[in-house]
Amino acid sequence: MLRITNAAYLGELRDVLVENGHIAGFGPAGSLHGENTFDAKGRKLFPGFTDAHTHLREPGGEWKETIASGLDAAAHGGFVSVMCMGNTNPVNEEAGVTRQMLDSASASWPHGPRLYPIGAATVGLKGEELTRMHELKKAGCVAISNDGKPVANTEIFRRVMEYAADLGMIVIDHCEDPFLAVNTHMNEGITSGILGLRGQPDVAETIQAARSIFLAEYLNIPVHIAHVSARKTVDLIAWAKQRGVKVTAETTPHYLLLDETAVGLYDTNAKVNPPLRTQADIASLREAVKSGVIDILVTDHAPHAVHEKEVPFDRAPNGFTGMDLAVSLTYDLVRQNVLSEEDLIRLWAVRPAEIFGLPCNQFRIGDPADFFLFDPEEEWTVSRETLHSKSCNTPWLGQKLCGRVSNLWIGGYQIF
Ligand code: DOR
Repeated sequence: MLRITNAAYLGELRDVLVENGHIAGFGPAGSLHGENTFDAKGRKLFPGFTDAHTHLREPGGEWKETIASGLDAAAHGGFVSVMCMGNTNPVNEEAGVTRQMLDSASASWPHGPRLYPIGAATVGLKGEELTRMHELKKAGCVAISNDGKPVANTEIFRRVMEYAADLGMIVIDHCEDPFLAVNTHMNEGITSGILGLRGQPDVAETIQAARSIFLAEYLNIPVHIAHVSARKTVDLIAWAKQRGVKVTAETTPHYLLLDETAVGLYDTNAKVNPPLRTQADIASLREAVKSGVIDILVTDHAPHAVHEKEVPFDRAPNGFTGMDLAVSLTYDLVRQNVLSEEDLIRLWAVRPAEIFGLPCNQFRIGDPADFFLFDPEEEWTVSRETLHSKSCNTPWLGQKLCGRVSNLWIGGYQIF
């Protein structure tokens, strides 16, 4: 039996006992006994986190990321469960692709992090023909999404929602009006005007979210709004929740921390979709994660190679890597008193597992022994060398962060 001792959990020093992959005891430091002891002095204890929105690029984009390298980044970021989007090549629209993803995960990381693929809503993500979702579910998909290509035809989107709901799967909707957002490169506002870049108005997101929310209410089935970036979308979700609509929502650390000015002088590492918005949006999103209007945090980990980002801004692909950094970045919000450690556990572990029906350790006897230690004092610089992802397209590249995941156990197995 393994005993972790002196681990700081929500401000109190704790012992954790692990037996056969599960939590066998949890109590004040020094109160429990095990054969092997791991002293966690100076480190914080968290349950394993879930990242419900990532892009792992395998199959078809292995120069950006593989499932092996993506799960490496996940493990070193404290994630024990990773949901990956279906915008691969081929698209994850058939059971064979799902199985290939799962085989690749278990071959490279037999002890976890666990991979949970998200199936495509329509064939080729073209928004025309529904996929065979029952087969995707049987093969291991846990949710459905048309990912970065919102279904333009509302009738088809309605059928997607109904079919997925019949199978007990939630639709994750990337909300972006396909016409307002076309050929846009950043948030529409003063900064886009100064830079001479075509901007995307915040209402491109809100209008599309309104469609999902009204359909969810009309059909009385759930919908999950992906990576919320705009205050108006937050207001809409709050209103819908008050009406009893079965809507849940996510945002990412970057929308809580960076505004449109991060683009600087055309820094393609600050180009993401939806785009970074304004200080008013940041303030509203911070309130929403605190109050629960936004249910969960995700990274939207979207790796791209250096040569793909080293092009003129309007030609660069959208996206940031995120799994390596997420806990360090969000722990900074604890230091700023925006969130508490308890909020991090709710946003990164408890609620994502509830929404998508995944395992979650809450340190109750019998829970999966999935947890990590976090050294709040470790200073490190975000660089090619320190990141485990195959790509390093993050606006934090070159910056110093304080606090880092130091050890991870999944199902009682120490990954590092
Ligand atoms: O910035 C983004 N990158 N947003 C998306 O929705 C897709 C993602 C990607 O796959 O690169």
